[in-house]
Amino acid sequence: MSYKLSDEQLMIQAMVREFSRKVVAVNAAERDRTREFPAENLKKMAELGLMGMMVPPEYGGEGADTVSYVLALAEIAYSCASTAVVMSVHNSIVCESIRQFGTHDQKEKLLRPMAAGKIIGAFALTEPQAGSDPSAQTTHAVRDKSKYVLNGTKRFITTGKNAGIVIVTAKTDEAKRHKGVSAFLVKKGTPGFIVGKTEDKMGLCASDTTDLIFDNCRIPAEDILGNEGDGFRIAMTALDGGRIGIASQSVGVAQAALDAAVKYAKERHQFGQPISKFQGIRWMIADMVTEIEAARQLMLSAASMKDRGEKFTAQASMAKLFASEMVNRVTAKALQIHGGYGFVKDYPVERFYRDARVFTIYEGTSEIQRLVISNHILRDKRLPNLLIPRGH
Ligand code: CAA
Repeated sequence: MSYKLSDEQLMIQAMVREFSRKVVAVNAAERDRTREFPAENLKKMAELGLMGMMVPPEYGGEGADTVSYVLALAEIAYSCASTAVVMSVHNSIVCESIRQFGTHDQKEKLLRPMAAGKIIGAFALTEPQAGSDPSAQTTHAVRDKSKYVLNGTKRFITTGKNAGIVIVTAKTDEAKRHKGVSAFLVKKGTPGFIVGKTEDKMGLCASDTTDLIFDNCRIPAEDILGNEGDGFRIAMTALDGGRIGIASQSVGVAQAALDAAVKYAKERHQFGQPISKFQGIRWMIADMVTEIEAARQLMLSAASMKDRGEKFTAQASMAKLFASEMVNRVTAKALQIHGGYGFVKDYPVERFYRDARVFTIYEGTSEIQRLVISNHILRDKRLPNLLIPRGH
């Protein structure tokens, strides 16, 4: 079923496309080189409503649907994947978790400044020894009267250095695996909350990825998100939405790589004609555009299921799996079409290729997505019915 966008969704897409190509694209290569956090972009994006897209208007957000959000995110990723991942974690994981699981007070205090771009969010689940298996995490939180005391180390945290608020998961009952995990809202500047080493990455260079260390970090008991023991469910729910965001980032970067490859193939002459005339190049372009379209439809399908309030876990994983693997194939082909010029930094495809590499890894590896999808097929007999479009 091809997805039909509403006038409002098309308008948001067009508005963000124009902004992204006029503003975000301009310094993307420079930011990749200097590794400078895209604070200026985020400020302007907040003015356009992009930092609280799905936050309800009563908390200062746009109240947009997930479909509009993923369309906007793909447009930002088209120009700068580093800016897009900050937008993605902030919106799909942090704002959405507070919206879904926060108290009215937490929403009042946090969602408004987050939607205004004054506070950027991060999500700290992964640890040095707990990546694909987050229930093995060892960070723990012990209740001490009106406080929780957090101890432990989180790893590979997107926006770890620049975030003002971090959702941190920690064991409140070490005897239980996932059922002993709780989630906390930890503010930057809380004593005992230390930003550790910043990773030196191959891609997404302008987005900081850091260790976060909690050393007897005392946080008010009311800053727990949900109840004790809800942390794993909160994290999994957040990742369901986050994974549609990664599909969207993948679609955006792949579209940028395709457009660059098409432009180059038309301009580059070899053997007396543009290389776009050669069948070898044409077939690559045909495969690239077909795969991008397939990924886009999966992304929209998962996003619209979320908007309809349906269970979309497996569809989010399918979208993330296919789109993230697709963008790796597409950027590799785009680079190949550029020949030697694809391997140097004068052309953007080299950056697209590096940026795309992590998409099959973060927010759940491709292997984890296959686990989630196969679990649904083998355990949940309802999935095939969900795949049949309504009204058919
Ligand atoms: N929504 C809500 N609840 C869920 C859920 C979902 N999608 N998936 C699982 N759960 C619940 C289950 O219902 C179950 O709860 P009960 O026991 O109460 O019934 C509980 O979680 C455990 O479920 P499983 O037995 O299926 O869990 P598991 O231990 O086998 O693991 C997993 C499941 C899919 C492998 C999961 O651990 C997983 O997703 N791992 C990958 C983690 C990941 O994506 N990490 C990326 C970190 S974020 C990041 O990348 C950083 C960034 O900043 C971008």
